[in-house]
Amino acid sequence: MKIAVIGSTMMDLVSYTDKIPAAGETCESEEFHIACGGKGANQAIAAGKLGADVLMLTSVGDDLFGEQARKNFAEHHVDTKYVRTAKDTMNGVATILVDASSQNRILIHKGANDRLTPAMIAAAGNDLKQCGLFVLQLEVPLETVYAAIIFARENHIPVLLNPAPAVKELSIEMVCQCDFFVPNETELAALTRMPTNSLDEIRKAAAQLVSQGMKNVIVTMGDKGVLWLNGNQQELVPAKHVTAVDTTGAGDAFIGCFAACYTSTGDIRQSLQEASLYAALSVTKKGTQDSYASYAEFKSFAAEKI
Ligand code: RIB
Repeated sequence: MKIAVIGSTMMDLVSYTDKIPAAGETCESEEFHIACGGKGANQAIAAGKLGADVLMLTSVGDDLFGEQARKNFAEHHVDTKYVRTAKDTMNGVATILVDASSQNRILIHKGANDRLTPAMIAAAGNDLKQCGLFVLQLEVPLETVYAAIIFARENHIPVLLNPAPAVKELSIEMVCQCDFFVPNETELAALTRMPTNSLDEIRKAAAQLVSQGMKNVIVTMGDKGVLWLNGNQQELVPAKHVTAVDTTGAGDAFIGCFAACYTSTGDIRQSLQEASLYAALSVTKKGTQDSYASYAEFKSFAAEKI
């Protein structure tokens, strides 16, 4: 089944540094890259690299970055029929600092992503109806995310919502219409206003969302694994231990792989296990999309790790 990713496209400006500058300070980075990113685009490319059939709805800039992003989708066999260029608008940009412990700090400027409107969902209606899963994030206007959820409900299409970056005004009623809600600890805390500093606190916050009507809450916790809760069960999928060099985009790798596996197998547990492994492999390499393995690379890594 085809996956529709309705979301953001950015150009990532990534600096690797041992020292994060303090206010008023200038530091020098050891390495710098410009690469295609954006949570939506990353998730689409990850699924595409694994062989899934992906339709991307996004808004790119009327500039060189926008052109490059469009080419990047096409090169990775992502359907670009609804990749729109927003006239006289710059592409979204993410300024990313990766420190010596492989952690990242990200500052985004949405640019053209703010021009992804509910009207674009309506315009793509006939093609969207053919999809077996919608994948959404929060780097585009909330009204567009809500329009996509409503469209999916009306057409009986499952929805995965990754509430990233955290947005305080996200409506729980809308989120409860989704089949899979996939936050990290910080995003879970923002929505529930509960602490998420330990596994126990994360369990309680996720359980509260389930009690409010969410079908499947899947909390990604980095090297602590993934917690899956629904009305019937709680399960911890442990993370594979690897040496991390750059964790940027690992959550997107997880979601892209989950979407690819779930749309081909319909098996949530298997999809979580594969997605955890795929995300673990991604942190062993630098970059976001550049760190995502092809299907063949992933299978050979999985064979070693099982
Ligand atoms: O999740 C990682 C992504 O977040 C980066 O590619 C950057 O573009 C930001 O959107």
